[in-house]
Formats: sequence, structure tokens, C-alpha cells
Amino acid sequence: MTTIAIIGTGLMSNALGAGWTRAGHQVRVGARSPEKAAGLGFTPSFAGTHREALAGSDVVVLAIPFPAVADFVPEHRDQLDGRVIIDISNPFDNLPNNERAGAEYTADLLGTTTGLVAAFKDNFAATINDSAAADGVAAQVKIAADDEEAKAVVVGLVHDLNLRVLDCGELHNARFLDGMVSLMLILDRAHAGFTMHTGWAFTGLENKR
Ligand SMILES: NC(=O)c1ccc[n+]([C@@H]2O[C@H](COP(=O)([O-])OP(=O)(O)OC[C@H]3O[C@@H](n4cnc5c(N)ncnc54)[C@H](OP(=O)(O)O)[C@@H]3O)[C@@H](O)[C@H]2O)c1
Repeated sequence: MTTIAIIGTGLMSNALGAGWTRAGHQVRVGARSPEKAAGLGFTPSFAGTHREALAGSDVVVLAIPFPAVADFVPEHRDQLDGRVIIDISNPFDNLPNNERAGAEYTADLLGTTTGLVAAFKDNFAATINDSAAADGVAAQVKIAADDEEAKAVVVGLVHDLNLRVLDCGELHNARFLDGMVSLMLILDRAHAGFTMHTGWAFTGLENKR
């Protein structure tokens, strides 16, 4: 059982929190307005302020907009030290050229890549708990990190959601994931009516690992 602090009460907080609660993990939700937790589609083990939610957590999920990460991380650096931090935030137009990953900016804010894992960037919230969302195939969660131990923790948590993992290597590769998200939105709008039940999958990997 892992204690996971999810920061934010939006679509991704709901999806990941519901999945990990179902898998038997303790999910603590942190919000600017903790009463918003009452509107979540699952019952967290705790809901409170950001600081309260972080207390006692092993893993932290940054389920807030990319610009908000720039405020959140410096304000809570003391509590983030030693945790596995899953950065799911998408920079979009904040980093239009994808020369560096959004997660690399998060690493700058943390002062280290230790513990930091970029993940779920290109997984629409609606596909997290619907293993048949993408043509009957469980979504593939791409992860990039420099810290192999932290990566292994996230691999386990992805499997607990009954989703597949694709190890995309080091953290700087997350810049490609950032770009894929922008194209994913374009494709979903063009070909699926913006239902957000689609997703990327790298194929041909069966029996090759
Ligand atoms: N939606 C998706 O399918 C999807 C997929 C992959 C990745 N992502 C990424 O995941 C992150 C969350 O996305 P989402 O769709 O869940 O967003 P959302 O539904 O808009 O929720 C974002 C949450 O962030 C919190 N927040 C907003 N501004 C903040 C600020 N300035 N400081 C602190 N907290 C703030 C809010 O929580 P409180 O007001 O309760 O504090 C809000 O509930 C984003 O970075 C997004 O790019 C989303």
C-alpha cells in the first residue's frame, strides 16, 4: 500500500485517485479550497490543504496546471524532498518549441531530478479507468525519468491501474511527450469529435522486452 498525495481536484485527480483508491492505496488530496474534495468521484483517505495532504505521503502527483507547478514546488520543496514526484502537467503554449521538457523545468524548481518522474502526459483522464477506451486496448502510460528507483515505483502504480507502461528513458525525453500531447489534442478533435477517449500507443513491443 502506497500513500499518494494528489495535488488538485480536477479531471486527472479524479481519475488517478479513483483508480488508486480502488487498487487499495491511500489517496490524500490537496487543494487550494479543500471543500472541493467533496465533489470528487471517489472518497480520498484525506482531503485538506496542500501541506496537509503532503504530510506522510510516499508519492506526490502534480495534478495542477503547468504554470501552477512553478509556484507549488518552491513553496513545498521541504515536503517534496525524498518523495517520488509524478509530474503529469502539460506545458502546451508555455513551452511551444519543446526544446526542454516541462518536467525539466520542474526538476530545476526541485533542484534535482531525483524522485521526479514525468508520466501520464498523453493519457486523457477518461482513459485511465476505462481499459477499453482505446479500441479495446488498455492505455499505454509513457514515463521518463533519470531516477530508476522512482521510475520503478511509478511502473508499479501504473500496473495497479491495469494500464500498460512504456519506459521512454531519461527525463529529457519527456519533451517529446509534451509535443505528442499537443498533436494528440489536434488528432482527437479532428478524428474523434474531441471525446478525449483516444491516446497514443507505440506498437510492436510484444515479447520484445
Ligand atoms: N485532463 C486530462 O485528460 C489530462 C491528461 C494528462 C495530463 N493532464 C495535465 O494534468 C494537470 C491537471 O489537469 P486536469 O485536466 O485535471 O485539470 P483541471 O480539471 O482543470 O484541474 C486542475 C486542478 O488544478 C488546481 N489548480 C488550478 N490552478 C491552480 C493554481 N494556480 N495553484 C494550485 N492549484 C491550481 C485546481 O484544484 P483546486 O482549485 O482544487 O486547488 C484544479 O482542480 C494539467 O497540468 C494537465 O495538463 C491532463
